[in-house]
Parts: sequence; C-alpha cells; structure tokens
Amino acid sequence: MAKQKEGAGKTNKPLSGKTAIVTGASSGIGLATALTLAQAGAVVVIQARRKDRLAKVVSEIHAKGGKALALAGDAGLTSDIDRLLEQTLEWKDGGRKYDIVVVNAGRGLAGGTLASDNYQWEEVYNTNVLGAAYLMRSAAKYFIGRKKGDIVAIGSVVGRNISPFSAFYGSSKFAVGAIAEGLRQEVCAHGVRVSLVMPGIVVSEFQKVAGYDENNFYKGIAHMGKLLKPQAIADGICWLLTQPPNVNVSEIMIRPTGQNYP
Ligand SMILES: NC(=O)c1ccc[n+]([C@@H]2O[C@H](COP(=O)([O-])OP(=O)(O)OC[C@H]3O[C@@H](n4cnc5c(N)ncnc54)[C@H](OP(=O)(O)O)[C@@H]3O)[C@@H](O)[C@H]2O)c1
Repeated sequence: MAKQKEGAGKTNKPLSGKTAIVTGASSGIGLATALTLAQAGAVVVIQARRKDRLAKVVSEIHAKGGKALALAGDAGLTSDIDRLLEQTLEWKDGGRKYDIVVVNAGRGLAGGTLASDNYQWEEVYNTNVLGAAYLMRSAAKYFIGRKKGDIVAIGSVVGRNISPFSAFYGSSKFAVGAIAEGLRQEVCAHGVRVSLVMPGIVVSEFQKVAGYDENNFYKGIAHMGKLLKPQAIADGICWLLTQPPNVNVSEIMIRPTGQNYP
C-alpha cells in the first residue's frame, strides 16, 4: 500500500487556519455554507435572528470536530453588525481575526412594483441592501489593513435579469451586485477579493418568506425540472474561496439546468 505523503491530509482542509463569518446561517444557503466551510477546515462565526437554529448548527459543527460560534443578531441593524465583527475579533478560538465574510442574510418578496406588499419594502432594503453594504464596508476596511481577505456577497439571478414575479426584490439584488463590484474595484489593489454569487432558484425557506404561491411563482417555474438545493451554492462558494490568492472569481451564476429564465 502506498504511504500517505506528509501533509497530504491538508488538501482535504483547504480553509484550515481561516475564520469565516457567515450571515443568515440558520437556514438554506447560509446554513449549507457554514457547514461546508467548516468541513473545509475553517472555523465559523454564524449570525441570524433565530438563536435556537444557530445553536443546532454550532452543535452539528462541533460534533464533526469543527469550531463554531453563534452570535445572534439582525443583519439589517448596524449595531448588531458591529457587535458581530467585534465579538469575532475577541473570540480566542477564532484566532481573534477573520479572513472570510459571506454576506448572505436576505429575504425575498413576491411580486413586482404593482403586486408586492409595500409594507415589506423597507425590511427588504434594510436587510438585503443597507445591512449588506454596511457589513461589506466594515469587512473591507478591516481587510485592507490586513492586505488580504474575502468578501462573498450573495446576489441573485434576478439581480442581473429582472423578472416580473419578484421585481422589487430583484431591485435590491441589483443594488447588491453594484455595491459588490464597485467595492471590488476599490479594494483589489490591497489584495482583497470580492465575489458576487448569483443563485438561481434554490429550494429553501426563501419561497415561504417571500410569499410565493402557485399563481405568483410555482406555475411559472413548473417546466424547470429539478431545482437547486442550498448545497450547490455552498459548493460554489467553497470553490471560489479555495482559488489561489491572485485569482478572484468576481462573479458566478449558479442555476438549475432547466432554468431558462431569469
Ligand atoms: N432561495 C433562492 O432561490 C435564492 C435565489 C437567489 C438568491 N437568494 C439569496 O440567498 C440568500 C439566502 O437565502 P436562502 O435561500 O438561504 O433563504 P432562507 O432559507 O430563507 O435563509 C435566509 C437566511 O437569512 C436570515 N435572515 C433573513 N433576514 C435576516 C435579518 N434581518 N437578520 C439576520 N438574518 C436574517 C435567516 O435567518 P433568521 O430568520 O433566523 O434571521 C436565514 O438564516 C438571500 O440573500 C437570498 O436573497 C436565494
């Protein structure tokens, strides 16, 4: 039997030594990303509002031999974002630093400008745009000081191709895309990478929160076949984070094969 080369185990843990913050990690894409990055060797700090859910994620990571810290909070509140970053820097097990920030927390909203519930517009923008921008900026300032770091912003295919079934939500993701790309241009000279990940339709709690039903959504996507699971996006995120430091996958769109539109 061939002898295992020294350090060969390292290839299974390409993110070992890194500390990753993942927002919106109590469900869906953020949850899958937290588990995947932990599996790849990162220690993870997770945020969302539901404490009980976060505690379960931490237990799962610990059970697999990883390290995780839950810091519950609202991704749309600057005070909670500040606290998330400060407490990460104080966390001894995380090495009192962070290397990766996955700006994932967000929510959808069914309908375009005519049909969407305007009482929910503010929450959509607070979480998806203002909170995301504030977190991206805070992380970027810190990473500039370290001359390295990764910011991964979760946009959407409807943040590139608008569609009437979620046009108001889509507008928030157009903003995320603009902020991420603009920030990339501002920080790239400092060794900091910014990646925009644009998922297609992923089955998660997203559809329920957005208020999708047969008429405003499911009828229109019935022909698309098998939709994505959150793991498909988590794998894409892990792949781009494990590229060499001089390679910045600045944007990536991941759709179900049968999704012709948007
Ligand atoms: N699913 C899709 O088809 C799809 C497609 C394109 C893009 N996306 C984007 O992908 C991201 C993740 O969505 P998902 O599909 O994983 O949906 P999900 O299952 O509903 O998960 C959303 C996550 O965000 C958290 N969150 C929402 N509002 C928050 C707030 N104000 N403060 C803190 N955490 C908040 C939720 O946690 P708590 O409720 O516990 O706070 C949850 O952990 C979102 O940005 C979404 O817009 C999704």
